[in-house]
Amino acid sequence: RILILDFGSQVTQLIARRVRESGVYCEIWPFSTAPERIAGFGARGIILSGGPASVLDQGAPRIPDAVFAQGVPVLGICYGQQAMCAQLGGAVETHEHREFGRAHVDVLEDSALLRGVWQRGAREQVWMSHGDRVTRLPTGFKAVAVSEGAPFAIIADEGRRLYGVQFHPEVVHTPHGAALLRNFTHDVAGCGGSWTMAGFKQMEIERIRAQVGTGRVICGLSGGVDSSVAAVLIHEAIGDQLTCIFVDHGMMRAGEAEEVVRTFRNRFNIHLVHRDASDLFIGALEGVTDPEIKRKTIGRLFVEVFDEEASKLGGADFLAQGTLYPDVIESVSHTGGPSVTIKSHHNVGGLPETMRMKLVEPLRELFKDEVRVLGRELGIPEAIVGRHPFPGPGLAIRIPGDITREKLDLLRKVDTIYLEEIRTAGLYDAIWQAFAVLLPVRTVGVMGDGRTYDQACALRAVTSTDGMTAEVYPFDMGFLNRVAGRIVNEVRGINRVTYDITSKPPGTIEWE
Ligand code: XMP
Repeated sequence: RILILDFGSQVTQLIARRVRESGVYCEIWPFSTAPERIAGFGARGIILSGGPASVLDQGAPRIPDAVFAQGVPVLGICYGQQAMCAQLGGAVETHEHREFGRAHVDVLEDSALLRGVWQRGAREQVWMSHGDRVTRLPTGFKAVAVSEGAPFAIIADEGRRLYGVQFHPEVVHTPHGAALLRNFTHDVAGCGGSWTMAGFKQMEIERIRAQVGTGRVICGLSGGVDSSVAAVLIHEAIGDQLTCIFVDHGMMRAGEAEEVVRTFRNRFNIHLVHRDASDLFIGALEGVTDPEIKRKTIGRLFVEVFDEEASKLGGADFLAQGTLYPDVIESVSHTGGPSVTIKSHHNVGGLPETMRMKLVEPLRELFKDEVRVLGRELGIPEAIVGRHPFPGPGLAIRIPGDITREKLDLLRKVDTIYLEEIRTAGLYDAIWQAFAVLLPVRTVGVMGDGRTYDQACALRAVTSTDGMTAEVYPFDMGFLNRVAGRIVNEVRGINRVTYDITSKPPGTIEWE
């Protein structure tokens, strides 16, 4: 296993992605982690991330001495390289020749880090982002490559197995970066590369059994990827000690609630409580138009209903949650200061605050796409594993204005046609999220010989990697024409279709 110490780079998570893709387990910890914890982790190699600070600043983040005391190979990236040099007796300076973006390095020497990837004499493309640079190497180091802005673009002390790169091997703009990281983890650090999802599944099942013992676990199921995978995994571990509670707020897509119930009861034999609370939710939302009040109302009711169902079961010892790794990484604040914050992400469907149960979070070491791989490993149908993200408040935030059953039904019909066409065209997996919005507007149209005065709807489809930013999906006009034609012809009550072409930012993905 590999330990990644985070100095606050925006791309530290990518280092972890690359390392895991090469079949090596790793974790990201803050640079300020206590020495005993670092020693206890048992890393075969340590990677020091980049970061926004300058080693020349007062109070700049330091590499803990425990890192070098391990005697294991160390790879410093960008700030990591500079800090390593500064602490081991070299020198770092701020230079006017800053490098941002694409750059080239000239390879001067062979090194274990480059074996089979880059040869002496080659000129290779990398991605740089630095103001400071190393200007004198500590004793024992040699310069392996130079770039225009960095005389020590790659450095190595092969004896002590300490390496440093000024560029970022973890980003795709460094074409052979993943191969360099693999050389470090496999060849230099000697990791086997046998970490697989099948192995993870087995390890996690053992861990759940050890944690839960003979206790009872309840799990909120929403039909989304994360809660589904968590539920099936826990069920494999402890069988009927698990009960899932599906609070159906009545604002799912057409057929989705039924599919969740069918899949989990029939296919996986999971004990599932399905509480149809749609009257309660829709009743409470009557006349509510403000998006935040909609969210709060739904969130509050969710907790109440979940609590109620849990008490009916006589309580439980553990609450299962589908928390993912990006939510739990102890991140270094991007100001580069020493403050350490733990991100926590609670949305609708999250933890009822009033419940005092211990948590079971079997996905807390996985990234979203790893959860999908695990889901496939567990035999969860592609329709669930590959599903687009769906917001906790459901269709309520896709109907600007107040919510009624009629509006929900109308929107479901539009949404079903839109997604059917997307699937038929083979575009579903290329899109991050696609959905329809029911607009609180009536417009005039003409059908046959008659005048219509009906509602308008908007279609939305975006690409994204994390939902933080998004681009509009560029459908061709023929596709949009076909969808609009079907919607207006088949959904009585809708006579106009628009396509939302706003990116995020400045828009958001959802309309509310
Ligand atoms: P926005 O609209 O903020 O959405 O660009 C970003 C991502 O978050 C989802 N989203 C929500 N998810 N509860 C959720 O569980 C919410 O209240 C909520 N609002 C937005 C949205 O679907 C997109 O994936």
